Parts: sequence; structure tokens; C-alpha cells
Amino acid sequence: MAQNSLLGRPSTSPFSPHFGRTPHSLVGRDSLLAEVGGGLLTGPNDPRYTSIFMGVRGSGKTVALNEVEDRAAGEGWVVLSMDAGTPGLLERITQAISQADRTYEALNLAEITDRRSIEKGIGIRLGPLEGKMATTEHRDHGATMGLREHLTYLVQAAQRHGASVLLTIDELQGIDRVEGRRLSNDLQHITRRAELPLAFLGAGLLELKHTLLGDRKMTFFHRCEHFDMPPLATEDAAIGLAGPIQSSGGTITGTALALGSKAVNGSPYRLQVIGDIAWKTSGAPDSAIDTPDIEAAIAVAAEVVDAKISVAAWHDLSEGSQRLLEAIGTRGGTTTSAQAAQDSGIDGKTANDALRRLADTGYLERPGHGTYRLTDLVPREIIRRETEPPQTTPPIPAALLKCRKWMPRAKAYCVLSKNHTGGCRSK
Ligand SMILES: Nc1ncnc2c1ncn2[C@@H]1O[C@H](COP(=O)(O)OP(=O)(O)OP(=O)(O)O)[C@@H](O)[C@H]1O
Ligand SMILES: [Mg+2]
Repeated sequence: MAQNSLLGRPSTSPFSPHFGRTPHSLVGRDSLLAEVGGGLLTGPNDPRYTSIFMGVRGSGKTVALNEVEDRAAGEGWVVLSMDAGTPGLLERITQAISQADRTYEALNLAEITDRRSIEKGIGIRLGPLEGKMATTEHRDHGATMGLREHLTYLVQAAQRHGASVLLTIDELQGIDRVEGRRLSNDLQHITRRAELPLAFLGAGLLELKHTLLGDRKMTFFHRCEHFDMPPLATEDAAIGLAGPIQSSGGTITGTALALGSKAVNGSPYRLQVIGDIAWKTSGAPDSAIDTPDIEAAIAVAAEVVDAKISVAAWHDLSEGSQRLLEAIGTRGGTTTSAQAAQDSGIDGKTANDALRRLADTGYLERPGHGTYRLTDLVPREIIRRETEPPQTTPPIPAALLKCRKWMPRAKAYCVLSKNHTGGCRSK
């Protein structure tokens, strides 16, 4: 019936070329998940009980975080799953705690807070409406409680049932500094000093090393166990491509599989994009995915990855860092720090610091002492495209000019016309 729909035909692709979407086959993460899972099971004294996943865009942080959440929830943990991409994180955590109170009825969080209220001698006469009045009272009281108290109550309630709480925060690099410091203090108090069963798992870009982890007032995050997202091995990439194809009734030739998994080059996002495009263009599952299909998919996937990861990563950088990368790109992709400093017109010390930071955050690698080379994160071609001066062509009518403002969250440029009113839009 779907074939006759005016809307077209639904895709049968078993791949998930979208950020944050759990793939059909989650590959190459067994030891990472076992490490973190082992830490959660061991308890607050295990350093892995509070951990952070770090990696470049598309390296699979969110998916790994979601997997740990699912496994923990499956084992009876209370899971608070948060995202620091927008301000107001602490308020959202508080709301999530109230939600947990409703979701996990057995926790009966109200019981603990009510006891405090009654001790305070509020003197409400409890009748048949007891439950309702108690809840109202609990909420009023809750409004005056700080995040630390809210969290403590939740964790104590879980503890009474032999359960633990897992707080996860994705997009940690976006955390507001003031909120980050407060949260760090509260978590430090609850998990380290009071040793309550509140586990923490964060995820964010490698920039964290220089922001959150470099802030002396955020000791909690600094002391977390840090895990870099490992690149996918070629054998894992092969499983990640072949598994979904086969279990959805398709086939792929051996040569195509070998070419595809090599082209993945360690990137989970690229794996999903290659698989998805190959599936759609080959006419799978009716036809096998062969060498021309996969070669075409690799080429198109490169464009997609450039647009979604490399351009986004370029726009994450300061102007000075962009100038340094541009200087290295102009020298063929590899150069010494002194040369990069000179070419970019940045003084030696500032350039050295910035280059080290670019290496720590995945933009550069160090093939030798004092030498830097561009990685795949922002390749030369992207730098060239992003920095080339605008073409001198006849003026374009104003109505046709696009805004093209970069929107980091959508990972896309604005498609509205220049000087549009209201917010930007990606489509
Ligand atoms: N272990 C894996 N095996 C196969 N595919 C994966 C794996 N991990 C992630 N993916 C896929 O890779 C893509 C990116 O994953 P994810 O969104 O988790 O990356 P991320 O590191 O959180 O990216 P960002 O920094 O932009 O938030 C998704 O399409 C996801 O389905
Ligand atoms: Mg993510």
C-alpha cells in the first residue's frame, strides 16, 4: 500500500546516518562499555563510577552514553538523562527528579520530604486526601530546595530500595560556566564526600580538556575517569556494514565490503552514511551492493561528512586557530610550529599554545617534535573552501541572496534570504 502513497516510498535502509541515533549494529564498543559498566557495578569507590566520554564530532559519544543508560535502566537503576547544549541545565535536572518521582512510584520521594515538613510542624490535618495534600506540600517544599537536596533525596530514596541513580550529561562542552561550577560542587559533595550511590557519565567534544577540565573550580569533572572514543577498527567497520545489510535481507560483495570498511577510516558516522547511501543507490535488498555502488557511496559520503562534521568543526574554532590551520593547509598540510606562527602572523608563544590545543582536540597530529599535520577532522580542501575569497561575479539580486549563517546545533547554514526577519532556519 505504501508504494502507492503520494508521499513516495518509505526507506528500507537499516543504517542510521543521524547524530544521536543508536545504530542497528553497535560495533567496536565492547571494551569501553565493559569498563564503564564495571565501574557502575563496583560502586562509588571505583574511579569509573564517574566518567566522561570525549571525542570529535560523530565519534559515537551520544550512542555510547545511551547504551550505558539503557543497560543501567535494565538493571533497575534510576536514570536521569540530560543534555547541557542549552542553558538551564540545573533546572532541567530538578524537573527530571520530579519526573523520576512520578515514574518510579516505589521511590516515594514524597515520604522523605514530607517527614521533614511534618517535623517542621506544619500541622495539616491528614484525612482521606492525605496523598494529595502530602504531594502539594512536598512540591511547595521542593520549590525551596536546592539541586543538591533534590539529588540527595532522590539518591537516598533509591538507596532505600537497593537501587542507584545514574546522572548522564551529553554535550558537556556546552555547559554554562556558572551552572557547571555549581553542579561540580553538588556532585562532589554527594558522590565523593557523602559516598551516596549517584553515578555520573558525561560526554562531550575534546575541547573539554581545555574548558571544563581546566577550570579549577570544577574539581568533580576533573577527577572523573576520562575515556577517549576509540576509532573503529576496520574489522569492526566491516561488521557494522555487513550486519545491518544481511539482517535486512540484502547482500554485499566481499570486495565492496573491504573497500567500504577501509573507507570508514575509524568514524562511526561515516560508516552509517556509506552504508545508507550504498543501500539506497544499489536498490538493496533486491540487488547486491557491489564495487561501483560502494565506490559511489564513499564519494558521496565524503561530501556529507565534510558538511556535517568538518565544516561544523571548522566553525567551532576561534579566528586565530582558523588562521593557523589555514597556514598549515597552505604549506601542504604539514609544517613546523615556527613556520605556522610566521605564516599566520601570530606570535610564537600564542601560536604554540594554540597548536597544542588543536592537537589535543583532534584537528592536528604531531608526526615529529615541533611539527604539526592536519587530520581528517578538517582537511585541506575544507579549509580552502571556507577561506577562499568570494568570487567576483556580477552582483546577485538582493532577493536571491541567502543568509547562510552557520547554525552549530543544526550543523547547517541558514537557507532563508539575507536580512530575513525572525530566527534562522536550516530547511
Ligand atoms: N559503535 C558504533 N557503531 C556503529 N555506528 C555508530 C556507533 N556509534 C555511533 N554510531 C553512529 O555514528 C553516528 C554518530 O554517533 P553519535 O551521534 O553518537 O556521535 P557523537 O560523538 O555524539 O557526535 P556529536 O559530537 O556531533 O554529538 C550516528 O549515526 C550513530 O548511529
Ligand atoms: Mg552527540
